[in-house]
Amino acid sequence: MSMTVEEAGVARDSFPRQPPETPPNVFEQLSMKGKVVAITGAADGIGYAVAEAMAEAGGDVALWYNSNDAAISKGERLAKAHGIRAKAYKVEVSDSTKVEQTMGQVVQDFGRLDVFVANAGMAISKAITEQTLDEYRKQMSVNVDGVFYCAKYAGAVFKQQGFGNLIITSSISAHVVNVPVDQPVYNMTKAAVLHLGKSLAREWREFARCNVVSPGFFNTKMGASPLCINEAYRMTPQGRQGHTKEIKGLYLYLASDASSYQTGSDVVIDGGYVLP
Ligand SMILES: NC(=O)c1ccc[n+]([C@@H]2O[C@H](COP(=O)([O-])OP(=O)(O)OC[C@H]3O[C@@H](n4cnc5c(N)ncnc54)[C@H](OP(=O)(O)O)[C@@H]3O)[C@@H](O)[C@H]2O)c1
Repeated sequence: MSMTVEEAGVARDSFPRQPPETPPNVFEQLSMKGKVVAITGAADGIGYAVAEAMAEAGGDVALWYNSNDAAISKGERLAKAHGIRAKAYKVEVSDSTKVEQTMGQVVQDFGRLDVFVANAGMAISKAITEQTLDEYRKQMSVNVDGVFYCAKYAGAVFKQQGFGNLIITSSISAHVVNVPVDQPVYNMTKAAVLHLGKSLAREWREFARCNVVSPGFFNTKMGASPLCINEAYRMTPQGRQGHTKEIKGLYLYLASDASSYQTGSDVVIDGGYVLP
C-alpha cells in the first residue's frame, strides 16, 4: 500500500500480471477434469453435494468423513457413475496429526491436490449461560481448530505445488445472530473461519486462492431444528430451506477456473435470510 501519490506512481516489477491460460468457454472453465478435490464432511449434507458436483464435472474426489462410513459406498458410486477416481478417508478433523497424515496420503494416492473444501462442522446450540466448557471446547475444536489444521496442511501442499484453492464453509451465523435459538459459540466459530479465509487469500496470493461460502438454512442434519424451523421459513424471503442441490453450482464455480479472478470472497447463499 502506498502512503503518497509519488509512491503510488512507481510501477511494481512484473505488474500488471497476465491472466491465467484458462479456456474462454465458460462451460470448459467449469470442467474439473484432471483435478483433485478433497472435501471434509463429505458423507452427507452439503459436503456430499459438493463431492457430487465435483464428480459430475469430471473431478477426482477424496471424501473425508468422521463417523458416517457411507462415504465409502457413496464414493464408489460416484466413481462408477462419472468415470472418476474417488476414495474415502476417515479423519477426525480436530486431530492435527491425522489431518496432516491424510493430506499427505491424498497427494500420494491422487498425485496432486487442486482444491480443498473445509466443510465439516458441528453445533451444540445453547445460550452461553447453559453451555458447558466441554461443549464450548468441542465446537472450537471441530469448527475452528479443524478448519485451521485443514488450511495449514492443504496450504503447505499448495505452496509446494505452486497452485491450489481452499474453500471454507462458514455460515450466515458469521454475519447475523440467528433467532430464536441462542448459539453464540457456534456463531463465533463461523465468524472466526470467515476471517481466516479472507486472511489466507492475501497470505497465499502467490500460489493459491481462498474463498468462503456462508450458507443459510439448508435441508441437512445441521439445518433448521424443530425449535427454529418456522422462524427459518418466516425469516427467509424464499420461505423455505435450501435444497443441497442448490449449493452445488456455487462450490463448483469457486473450485473451477470459472472463478480464477475470485479470492478472499465470502459468498452468502441463504434465500435472502440476511437481508432484513
Ligand atoms: N445445513 C445448514 O443449514 C448449514 C447452514 C450454515 C452452515 N452450515 C455448515 O455446513 C457444513 C456442513 O454441514 P451440513 O449442513 O451438511 O450438515 P451435516 O450433514 O451434519 O454435515 C456435517 C459434517 O461434518 C462432519 N463432522 C462433524 N464433526 C466432525 C469431526 N470432528 N471430524 C470430521 N468431520 C466432522 C460430519 O461427518 P460424519 O457425519 O462423518 O461424522 C458431517 O459430515 C458445516 O460446517 C455447517 O456448520 C450448514
